Amino acid sequence: MKFATKVIHAGIEPDASSGAIMTPIFQTSTYVQEAPGKHKGFEYARTQNPTRNVLQANLAALENGNFGICFSSGLAATDGIIKLFSQGDEVISTNDLYGGTYRAFTKVYARFGMRFHFTDMTNADNIVPFINANTKLIWIETPTNPMLNIVDIEAICRIAKQHNILVCVDNTFASPFLQNPLDLGADIVVHSATKYIGGHSDVVHGCVIVNDKPLADQLYFLQNSTGAVPGPQDCFLILRGIKTLHLRMQRSCENAERIAHFLRTHPKIDKIYWPGFEDHPNHAIAKKQMRMFGAMVSFTMKGDDYDEAVKILSSTKLFSLAESLGGVESLIGHPASMTHASIPKEERLKTGLLDSLIRLSVGVEDADDLIDDLKAALDRS
Ligand SMILES: Cc1ncc(COP(=O)(O)O)c(C=O)c1O
Repeated sequence: MKFATKVIHAGIEPDASSGAIMTPIFQTSTYVQEAPGKHKGFEYARTQNPTRNVLQANLAALENGNFGICFSSGLAATDGIIKLFSQGDEVISTNDLYGGTYRAFTKVYARFGMRFHFTDMTNADNIVPFINANTKLIWIETPTNPMLNIVDIEAICRIAKQHNILVCVDNTFASPFLQNPLDLGADIVVHSATKYIGGHSDVVHGCVIVNDKPLADQLYFLQNSTGAVPGPQDCFLILRGIKTLHLRMQRSCENAERIAHFLRTHPKIDKIYWPGFEDHPNHAIAKKQMRMFGAMVSFTMKGDDYDEAVKILSSTKLFSLAESLGGVESLIGHPASMTHASIPKEERLKTGLLDSLIRLSVGVEDADDLIDDLKAALDRS
């Protein structure tokens, strides 16, 4: 199946008992057994749920993987992955990554004796000095949040394979429509499905996709054993959102391209970060590993004035000032005070995350209206 067919059909059959074309929401905590141990494959809803099973199969297909494992949020999915490892194990991570992931690595798992190294992965060789006998995982985010750097997944996987290290890619910013890390050699893909996969800003959800059966079994074990499972209603909402993933992504990416080019002409703007520009440092890699260039655009203002940025953030009408991204509606955000406030200022400045950096999540509205909205806000600032 091609992607546009998979979003609607992969792993999804009409309900056997009724013919319902939409996967039912199996809102139950337990399942009746005929005799002890004699049941239809479902015993308790933390362990298995039919709505979740369909979603897991569909997500696996979208990432060209064999197994999908769903969690109650993107960070719960990350938590499931990190719990594959033990005290003393080390992780090498992108230095420019989602603040919540950074917080979990440094403030939660580090307390349990794991070590995390952060480095600029836009040059794959930068990971080499951090590799030692304890290195168990390389954590890639690409495009990165919010600087939209691009990491060469294949190049990192090549190095990791030589040292027998697993590679996990947080594919949230690209979505499976734009990029499939397992095809590029990664072992694990993680998504905050809260974002593009769900796509309608109405549910928090996470998922992990892998090819390897023993790895999948460990993740299903952790999903059940530590219990951060999504409810069936949330699984249904994600399944429904996925049906238009390809249409939403295409329109959002086209809109982002128009907006990035508009911003480039604006005299108040200093730097624009969007991997589709030919002079973006890793444009060629983006072109190689992504189908389009994504729908996130970040920019800084000339003079890097915090107050001016705040004025813009408070005066757009169509771009809503809010955390999150990837919904049908366009959002505007201020990473320094919102999504990345948990990263120390000196750390974020190192990656170019200035006080005036503004991040746009471009939705599926009319591109002309979105440009007019930004133009008016920039003129007022
Ligand atoms: C790239 C990325 N990964 C992971 C997460 C965490 O996902 P969630 O908010 O669903 O827990 C986010 C949330 O913003 C994100 O942007």
